[in-house]
Amino acid sequence: MKIQVIYSSLSGRTEKLARAVADETAKKYECSLHNLKDGTPTLDGEVILLGYWVDKGGPNKEMKQFMETVEGKAVGVFCTLGAYADSAHAIHSIEAGIDCVKEKNIVIGSYICNGALSEKIIEMFRKNGKEGTHSASPENEIRWKVMANHPTKAECDLGAERFIERIWIYEEHKKQNLIFKSVLLN
Ligand SMILES: Cc1cc2nc3c(=O)[nH]c(=O)nc-3n(C[C@H](O)[C@H](O)[C@H](O)COP(=O)(O)O)c2cc1C
Repeated sequence: MKIQVIYSSLSGRTEKLARAVADETAKKYECSLHNLKDGTPTLDGEVILLGYWVDKGGPNKEMKQFMETVEGKAVGVFCTLGAYADSAHAIHSIEAGIDCVKEKNIVIGSYICNGALSEKIIEMFRKNGKEGTHSASPENEIRWKVMANHPTKAECDLGAERFIERIWIYEEHKKQNLIFKSVLLN
């Protein structure tokens, strides 16, 4: 079974995660890695893992547009973001990605991962002063300091583990003629 990991990344965080997922997946399955920046890939895999950086609470524009073209695949969705990965905003941001693919595909799993704001964005926010969401508030400064090194190796490994397990589970369901709904189960 062929797996395609397709991602979009502005400052390299999502790329780091996508590479880790693809490298680990390639140890068990035929797997290719594609950066959307290099053009639109031909979708010849059965499982498509789609990675985006969160922009305004959802997939970045290029990935969102691409996601809407994916049809009839087993799909996994992952993202990196500047907010805490266990925040309501993060959950909303991954749900926004799932929403782009859930009607036309089987969603086998998802993974939210802490990313980091680029130094350029942080400098821009620092110019906004210390008040408000997009400012250099003391709370934001603390988060930026910790998040600067994310995604960590542990987070990348967990992402890879998540999807390798889900691919296997998807295969098992297929063998038994079961539909695997994963994240869409209530
Ligand atoms: C224009 C812009 C908008 C962003 N919007 C959000 C957002 O709504 N929520 C969030 O948590 N992070 C947001 N971020 C942070 C990025 O999602 C985060 O830094 C991500 O890890 C970047 O991934 P990349 O290095 O692959 O580009 C935004 C970053 C940029 C540049």
